[in-house]
Amino acid sequence: MEKVQFDHREPIGSSTYPPPNDVPVRQIISALFNNAVNPLPKSTLYIHIPFCNEICSFCGFNKAVSSEPVKERYVNALIEEIARYGRKRYVQSLDIQAVYFGGGTPNALSADQLLRILHAMNHHLPIARDAEITAEGIVQNFDDERSEALKEGGVNRISAGIQTFDRKIRETHLHMRNGADELLRGIEKMRSHFGNINLDMIYNLPGQTDEIWAEDMRLVLQTGVQHLTVYPLVLLENTIFYADYVKNKKFAAPDEVREIEMYRHALDAIAGSPFTNRYSVRDWAKPGLDCRYIRMNAESNHILALGAGSHGYLAGATYRTIRSTVKYMEFIEQNPDELPLDGVRLSTDQERMQRYAVMGLRMRDLDLAPFETRFGARFLDVFEKQVGEMIASGYLTLDGDRLHFTDMGDIWANNVRTHFEGRIGKTVGYTDTVSIGEDGKTHYSKVTRIKASGDVEANV
Ligand SMILES: C[S@@+](CC[C@H](N)C(=O)[O-])C[C@H]1O[C@@H](n2cnc3c(N)ncnc32)[C@H](O)[C@@H]1O
Ligand code: SF4
Repeated sequence: MEKVQFDHREPIGSSTYPPPNDVPVRQIISALFNNAVNPLPKSTLYIHIPFCNEICSFCGFNKAVSSEPVKERYVNALIEEIARYGRKRYVQSLDIQAVYFGGGTPNALSADQLLRILHAMNHHLPIARDAEITAEGIVQNFDDERSEALKEGGVNRISAGIQTFDRKIRETHLHMRNGADELLRGIEKMRSHFGNINLDMIYNLPGQTDEIWAEDMRLVLQTGVQHLTVYPLVLLENTIFYADYVKNKKFAAPDEVREIEMYRHALDAIAGSPFTNRYSVRDWAKPGLDCRYIRMNAESNHILALGAGSHGYLAGATYRTIRSTVKYMEFIEQNPDELPLDGVRLSTDQERMQRYAVMGLRMRDLDLAPFETRFGARFLDVFEKQVGEMIASGYLTLDGDRLHFTDMGDIWANNVRTHFEGRIGKTVGYTDTVSIGEDGKTHYSKVTRIKASGDVEANV
């Protein structure tokens, strides 16, 4: 089998697959959600809150700093959208086992607004009794009032972005407030309310020396939280970073060799810590505490997605909700009973099989057995060429019915995922963002190549 040498590390993979088309076919999809019989009811629910207190310079998510009246209008529109989906027979037949309130910053809303959304969700949608319900937010907004409201509404897991504890980097380069002392106090407060917490960290930030990254990892590992997500810095369109890096040349673009070094330092720091359960390329958990939402989406279950710019997967179709917050609210207000859909794609059987691989390889370990039950064909037959190439090249190994990433494969995980996609374009990025140089070519300041041995060959 031919060996595949990727020239550039892809900094980020597809967030959904296949990408929805840009054609507004609301009526078709709406009818589909009304009538379709549902053979595989397991589902997750994503709810997008597009507000932040301040805008971090690296972040390309769909979010803005908005006034109180806009937030209130959005909450009302969202509650209406929840009720509209709740009236669809397809949606009522789902078994929603994991929920994710993402953003933006859900806790940029008030306690009362959060509770109203959660009440609407619990009232209109078929949420399983023991569902995992996660809410994202910034550390400083997990105060007593909001935390109590979240718990009252059923939230049992929270997630916050730290990125780095270094005050200078945060203030100078990230447009973020606070340093280690305030953050650690905030995390203590979060722990007083919740027993299942994730923190996000980012490496390869401007000014983040080895010493600073080592201290970041030391601090985050001693917080006592249950879950860690560790990202490399990704250059995204429409961010302050993009303007600074690419347009104003204030910083050099991310350096790929450095990125891999810092990733390896993170592995060293985590080794021997209580985060023994590394279940995805970027997620670590204490035993038994991996995120059900991440796992279920990787297993290609249904995703009911609500809120501006969210991406879902229902009735065999990938779909996108209207991205502009204003247009989303206007649509809901002016079109009684219609769903605010923007793009949609009813996938072919081939695309559904590809989705199984692309979403599934977010995990370090892909179970091939359910594929046959679902599609009536063997994964290893359908993807014989791709699997063969990835194994021959040292990125994946096969152990019975399970495909695993090798240590080198972890580094190239997004390239490996792309290898299983068809040639129908990509939806690269977090929810609906675009990374600069999706294929890695223009993302990094230096072009590198990783040899099959795992060694880095710089400036190729
Ligand atoms: C929606 S935010 C988290 C919630 C909350 N707004 C916060 O900032 O704490 C999701 C996470 O994506 C990660 N992220 C966003 N933009 C990124 C980028 N350009 N490169 C790497 N990671 C990024 C950050 O770690 C961030 O915490
Ligand atoms: S990282 Fe979080 S707080 Fe910062 S802009 Fe993005 S969504 Fe908002």
